[in-house]
Amino acid sequence: MTFAADAMPDWVEVNGERHPLPEDLSRPATHFLREHLKLTGTKVGCGQGDCGSCTIVVDGEPRYACITPVARLRASRVLTVEGLAAGSPCGRRLQQSLLAHQAVQCGFCIPGMLMSACAAIDAGRVRDRADAEAALDGVLCRCTGYRKIVDAVLDVAIDAAPRPLTLPDDSIAVGRPLTRLDGEAKVTGTDHFGADGIPAESLHLRAVRCPHPRAGFAFGDLQAFVQAHPGVLRVFTHADVPGRNVHGVAPPYADQPVLPVDEARHHLEAVALIVGEADAVAALDLATFPITWTPMPALADVDIAARADSPLLHAHRPANLLIEGMVQRGDAEAALRDSALVVTGRFESSFVEHAYLEPEAGWARRTADGIEIHSPTQAPHPHREELARILGVAPEQVRVVPTAVGGGFGGKLDMTVQPLLAVAAWHMDRPVALVYTREESMATSTKRHPARIASSMAADAQGQLLAVTFEGDYNTGAYASWGTAVANRVPVHAGGPYRIPHYRARARARHTHVTSAGAFRGFGVPQTAMSQEQLIDELAVRGGWDPLEFRLRNALRPGDTLPTGQVLDDSVGLVACLEALRPHWQAARARGGDAGPRERRGVGLAAFFYGCGNTALPNPSTVRIGLRPDGTLVLHQGAVDAGQGANTVIPQIAADALGIPLARLHIVGADTHLTPDCGRTSASRQTFVTGRAAFLAGQALLGKLRHMAGADETAPVHFGEDGVEVAGVRLALAELPVDAQGYALKSEERFDPPTTLLDQDGQGRPYAAYAFGAQMAEVLVDLDTGRVRVRRVVAAHDVGRMVNPTLLQGQVEGAVAQGVGMALMERYEPGSGNNLHDYLIPTVRDVPEVETLFIEAPTALGPYGAKGIGEPALVPTAAAILNAIHHATGVRVREAPATPDAVLRALADAASRPFTSTGKV
Ligand code: FES
Repeated sequence: MTFAADAMPDWVEVNGERHPLPEDLSRPATHFLREHLKLTGTKVGCGQGDCGSCTIVVDGEPRYACITPVARLRASRVLTVEGLAAGSPCGRRLQQSLLAHQAVQCGFCIPGMLMSACAAIDAGRVRDRADAEAALDGVLCRCTGYRKIVDAVLDVAIDAAPRPLTLPDDSIAVGRPLTRLDGEAKVTGTDHFGADGIPAESLHLRAVRCPHPRAGFAFGDLQAFVQAHPGVLRVFTHADVPGRNVHGVAPPYADQPVLPVDEARHHLEAVALIVGEADAVAALDLATFPITWTPMPALADVDIAARADSPLLHAHRPANLLIEGMVQRGDAEAALRDSALVVTGRFESSFVEHAYLEPEAGWARRTADGIEIHSPTQAPHPHREELARILGVAPEQVRVVPTAVGGGFGGKLDMTVQPLLAVAAWHMDRPVALVYTREESMATSTKRHPARIASSMAADAQGQLLAVTFEGDYNTGAYASWGTAVANRVPVHAGGPYRIPHYRARARARHTHVTSAGAFRGFGVPQTAMSQEQLIDELAVRGGWDPLEFRLRNALRPGDTLPTGQVLDDSVGLVACLEALRPHWQAARARGGDAGPRERRGVGLAAFFYGCGNTALPNPSTVRIGLRPDGTLVLHQGAVDAGQGANTVIPQIAADALGIPLARLHIVGADTHLTPDCGRTSASRQTFVTGRAAFLAGQALLGKLRHMAGADETAPVHFGEDGVEVAGVRLALAELPVDAQGYALKSEERFDPPTTLLDQDGQGRPYAAYAFGAQMAEVLVDLDTGRVRVRRVVAAHDVGRMVNPTLLQGQVEGAVAQGVGMALMERYEPGSGNNLHDYLIPTVRDVPEVETLFIEAPTALGPYGAKGIGEPALVPTAAAILNAIHHATGVRVREAPATPDAVLRALADAASRPFTSTGKV
């Protein structure tokens, strides 16, 4: 539409309401929608038109609001997620369909998905699955694996009978595929992520960051800088940190300054904070900031970092070694020497970016006696402790209020914006807000550790696995972060889920001058599995055994002993997982071979075990349930839901423990002032550990009620609409005194899974429960381009007990998508490519068909037998894909990602090598 200059309309219609255009028409539509109209349902994931989270509908067409200037909205009809239900014929059905298909996890991408889908459906462009995928192609999701979203969109587009929501009713909740309890806010755009609830009166913070991989620095006249820039109020440096200028997830290893004193150890590390009015701070040209940089030699490679003449990142860590973990049992070297069949391999993987769609963001303010911080975090209580040390106050003076978390996968366990906000807000009398750009997020957040692995495995002539040796070096970057957890977990898992009498595994985490590597779904085990499951495969191939049957023969069973000396209990479902895969495996193997003149079909397999919870460390969660005099039951559960479903699963467990319909339970979510410490959302521990604490709290409350009634411990307890009866006798709750929270009675139970420290040989009980499983991947490999496409994955997982089957499926499908990315395309290069067009993650077009098979081998420790799934689901995927590439081509790819270049290199390398016979190699 064009207009004469003097007749230019000055309005835009948003969700049916006409608004005047703002003064500055050059700013992106996201700014107008979010800041002027307070429509924060439109999310900003990248600000560069890469991720699609900000998709809105403009005159019927989907548009990325982050790269659409407001001028383009002139006289247009704009629809955002807030107006979707009323503004699109398919809007409400689409929202309901996504919920019914359990297609929503963290929810950050969901407004973009909904708006893209509704534009296509309303225009009649979605007639089949391919159309639905095309409609969603411009929107990234890092959680779901896309398939459930496509299913949900397709149902609406073809007018299928609507799938009903699975709502809480009077039946037992555990085992039901309940629609997530926090889903409605995620499909209507009313959920508040880190950048969504910032108070209007907030000051804004901008960090001054190091432009070099390593540099010394000195400040100039900071006061003059402030005075020269109206609207800028303060500049903070390390000297303004009121308490300890250091933090880290493991206190004995804490080494990360809030703001360094005179040397930055990685690219874009923050060294100073500028605080002022939002527009003034945004308009600053940081090239004028008074700082002098002195670039210094930087280390990027772990082998170079280990040299005696390399600079030390931390003076007390010789050879830049953060930590070495080790497990040994038997005599692995002798067994390798004496075995009939030995395989040896080297493997290398790259940094992998979490690429959660929500960049880190939040705000903080001073309170009467301390500080309050609102941000997406996977670790509210641990952050409270760390922030208290930084501010030099008691932990009770810090309130951490987690916002909705737009994806975490381990990356929001570490503090990012929080210490910067805390220090700035401590000195100001107004709230302070900080929203990372995508570049800041990617350049400064933790990554998956790159691994450099050398390993050997041996078997006897009958196919019995005898020995494993393993040496792994993991690049942990500038600061400790979770390097300790990776180096301790990997040696336990390096042999895979097999009986191995002779074993020696060592893993080292070493510092370099790049952003820290930390926790990323699996703590080093997925990249280790890519190496080790290829060696297992190689043993099978060289021995002439079917890879599945070889794994089955050596698979861990109840009563077996791990290399740590731990004897497994009954909760070992690996054999059942492999047997469940067998028919799929045999059918896929029968399909193998040529798919075209220059295309090969292949199928690969990988198995795993995974310890739930921290490695050989205390790991407690505490859950409270309160009973009000009117019979209202309130669950205080502090497990953060980063999309995985804790907000639904923990209440399911608690409701069944109390014997009440889930709808009777009022839920208070994570907030350090309102909920007890449920530890971190990490290590696949929340269903297992917090779930168990919720179960115990429910049982304890029943016990208290029975005691109060003088009834025996099996007496029935009935929570009615108007009170509580025990063995048919009504309790006089109203006569009881109430506590500060208004409870007449409450229970608070703590569960800490029984583990022990590991001795110097890595012997002990590092985990109380293990998840088991195996996945099978079918691929097509183009021999000319090296391109690999994953067509189908069948995933068999022992989850102990299914608490919520569709949430479990979602975890598996999302993990498979991340596994595809890790195997084939994701390589983070520190110092460059901090955006989502250079760093590629799987789109809706890249994900395979996924079939999930759940096995229930309950653990006596878990709630109703449940174990974890979040990380286990990712561990085998990439390994299975690499094995499938070998099956298709006969070539092993010993690096990840297996990009087309890497595959072509491996093919060329194999073609140039003479044929070698099988046997000892
Ligand atoms: Fe899509 Fe989390 S649900 S990014």
